[in-house]
Amino acid sequence: MTFNETESQTVCPAGPPVFPQNIPPHAGTLADAEFYLALLQRECPPAKEDQNRLPHVREEIQQTGTYWQTFHEVTYGARVAWRNSTRCIGRLHWKSLIVRDLRHLFTAEDLFQALVDHLRVATHGGKIQPTITVFAPLVPGQEGIRLWNSQLIRYAGYQHADGTIVGDPQQVAFTNVLRRLGWSGGSGGPFDVLPLVIHMPGQSPKIFDLPDDALLEVPLRHPDFSWFAELGVRWHAVPVIANMRLDIGGISYPAAPFNGWYMGTEIGRNLGDEDRYHLLPTIAQKMGLNTKKEHSLWRDQALVELNKAVLSSYDEQGVTIVDHHTACRQFLCHQEREEQAGRVTYGDWGWLVPPLSGSLTPIFHRSYHNDTLTPNFWYQDIPWKEWDDSRSAKDDEGDL
Ligand code: ARG
Repeated sequence: MTFNETESQTVCPAGPPVFPQNIPPHAGTLADAEFYLALLQRECPPAKEDQNRLPHVREEIQQTGTYWQTFHEVTYGARVAWRNSTRCIGRLHWKSLIVRDLRHLFTAEDLFQALVDHLRVATHGGKIQPTITVFAPLVPGQEGIRLWNSQLIRYAGYQHADGTIVGDPQQVAFTNVLRRLGWSGGSGGPFDVLPLVIHMPGQSPKIFDLPDDALLEVPLRHPDFSWFAELGVRWHAVPVIANMRLDIGGISYPAAPFNGWYMGTEIGRNLGDEDRYHLLPTIAQKMGLNTKKEHSLWRDQALVELNKAVLSSYDEQGVTIVDHHTACRQFLCHQEREEQAGRVTYGDWGWLVPPLSGSLTPIFHRSYHNDTLTPNFWYQDIPWKEWDDSRSAKDDEGDL
């Protein structure tokens, strides 16, 4: 798919906002902008009216400390950020990323609506579309917008007094934060979808419940084991990462949720890892495997069957998913295409090799340099940590 074919699927921005004056230029911004504008010129030159941007950008940075990127700069930058994500095996599809430019939104309510729309566009009735929604950039000296959820769809983790956890153990701390924020809690079951928390700069964080029709889930069954469906295990269709920062040409977008589709082993890990749903002992026992002896390889066998259940259930329900063998082949195809375009593909080997049958895939037998290029996505501080710490300090005072 070429860049232009998907351009029609993008959303146009309103005009640039007025930036506060007299902010000292940020040393990094201009150099980063220059680097990126040159990349753009080389790879995907902008339309006539946006040619020769550098003098304008330079002046804007001098006056305001930042600059407002064009729609084209944001769109191509988001796609290249995906291409530069060395941990991602799905990069073959980087050019088809749908970019929704919503930088002009400034209320939590409008953001929430945009996030619900993101889920609808991305889910697309099961035919998942890689999508990113870009909200307002950071302005020097000001706080940015933050989404507190790690993904738009995640399941609550409820920790009981006896230490047992129902749901996703990875979400226990955030589930507790939500309770402190006033969330009344879900059913208390293992697959309660968490509400969204949107924190606009200078305001209190706000909580929003996702409407049911924005949410596609897949109940899992196994093609050969009828008992599997009775475990009542399910997973959501789309993984939308909500907490990473997108950096393009010296501009940071602290709220820019994005998604691809799942590779089956990711869900296998969510459900199989010991510190997540930890389902392998249950599955192995149902299969009648000898869990007393490591040499029976009951873990491996149960993990394969769990992964088969994931892939076949998504297939049956018409939800896009890729198995790890196909994903690896597609990654090699990506590498070839990149080579033809005169670019090196960097990679984080430990992340690219699938967590199941690693040595059966070609990636295992290759090595990669893991250089960090820009544009790219970055981890950020956990946004609710500070709020939570100050809240617990207040609660402690209340106890005295
Ligand atoms: N591993 C994460 C999860 O299981 C999702 C990360 C992004 N994955 C993707 N296929 N785009 O939820």
